[in-house]
Amino acid sequence: MANSNGYTAEIMRVYRGTCIHSTQHTAVEILEDALLGVDVKGKIAFIEKDSELDGLSEKFGFSPSEITQLAQHEFFMPGMVDTHIHASQYSYAGTALDMPLMQWLCTYTFPVESRFKDLEFAQRVYTKVVKRTLRNGTTTACYHATIHTDATLLLGQIANDLGQRALVGKVCMDRNNPAKYYKETCQESQEETCRWVPAYPLVKPVVTPRFAPTCTGALLGQLGAIAKNNNLHIQSHISENAEEIKLVKDLFPESKSYTDVYHKHNLLTDKTVMAHGCHLTDEELTLFRETGTSLSHCPNSNISLCSGVLNVRNVLNHKVKLGLGTDVAGGYSASILDALRRALDSSKILTIQDPGHETLTFEEAFRIATLGGSQALSLDDQTGNFEVGKDFDALRVNVTAPGGPIDLIQSDGPKVALNLFNHIYSQMNKSDDRNIVEVFVAGRKVVPFTEPKPE
Ligand code: GUN
Ligand code: FE
Repeated sequence: MANSNGYTAEIMRVYRGTCIHSTQHTAVEILEDALLGVDVKGKIAFIEKDSELDGLSEKFGFSPSEITQLAQHEFFMPGMVDTHIHASQYSYAGTALDMPLMQWLCTYTFPVESRFKDLEFAQRVYTKVVKRTLRNGTTTACYHATIHTDATLLLGQIANDLGQRALVGKVCMDRNNPAKYYKETCQESQEETCRWVPAYPLVKPVVTPRFAPTCTGALLGQLGAIAKNNNLHIQSHISENAEEIKLVKDLFPESKSYTDVYHKHNLLTDKTVMAHGCHLTDEELTLFRETGTSLSHCPNSNISLCSGVLNVRNVLNHKVKLGLGTDVAGGYSASILDALRRALDSSKILTIQDPGHETLTFEEAFRIATLGGSQALSLDDQTGNFEVGKDFDALRVNVTAPGGPIDLIQSDGPKVALNLFNHIYSQMNKSDDRNIVEVFVAGRKVVPFTEPKPE
């Protein structure tokens, strides 16, 4: 709506209530009684103090009576970012956690992933994983699919239709896979990667060499070139467990390190996210920093597969971009809230082992789950916090949601920021998806789901 100042953004909705988010300078910023305006394009038009109401309503042309008021025990936080999840493996999440990585892949993972040739099966699983992660508060997900391009295209369409922001990757692997039924050649892998070009507003393709042990140098080089020529995102795995690292050394004897293998094939860029990195050396972390490559910390998976414990403090000290990942099904939970808690637990284990270790704080974990994740995926110009101009990707959290797990003891203490934060600290540690009552992506309410009405 044009107004007297010539401002043309048409306001779709205005909220008043508590907003909690991270900024570049503050791990947790709490804005009480904030006014947050969302324009018709789903972008944040303003976020200001309530005292600015008169000026805002004049400038943006809305009436105070149209404001949606959050309840006393509600707040908005940014949608969470899952920087590493295997959509196909959701079909067996919560089972099969009794082997280390390399055996686990051959025994459970490859047989299941081979089933995604069947588009009907793919449709069923992919619809469930997108719905479940949205309900858990994941507004942005970076997915591994399988080697099958048609099913990967379907995952992109499902994410877009259900309203989840996503990077979606067709998995590439041309060697070292004993499963004869789940194989592709180097040429097929690169041709099929080029076929994966989605035209969805919320979904982008991501070049996905599974990891160095299942890719020839030739394939890694071609995928690096495809990413470079088309300015695409890249994702893979690195230094998850000791056996894998040894295998990479044997397969690529000319490389100085695991990180160097990817670097030599032009796969480390400022749009690359690598999962795990539990055993990276300081030298390798420096190369991550220099190339702008980010890490996805997947603590549930690292513990479930007994892979290792990432020293998050060391990663942060190296100024490497860092997000959280569920790594379903190596991780059994499809919730970033679970990943947040497990990241704190993992850091505390390091402190138990070495009391000099500087434990990750709750505030830092909150930032990694939201803004950090968006930075790790190079999507922080669009999402990650409540900055004007970014898309409104948000969770409406109700601490006292019916059937939820929280019993508030001191429910109406003085409403000063610190008390409120202490509340939220404990709430975040206890709450689950029952407390996430609404989820927005690009301003659209995507949870609760609204099924299409029958004709
Ligand atoms: N490394 C290569 N593939 C995989 C996978 O599917 N899951 C995990 N956790 N690690 C991997
Ligand atoms: Fe993984």
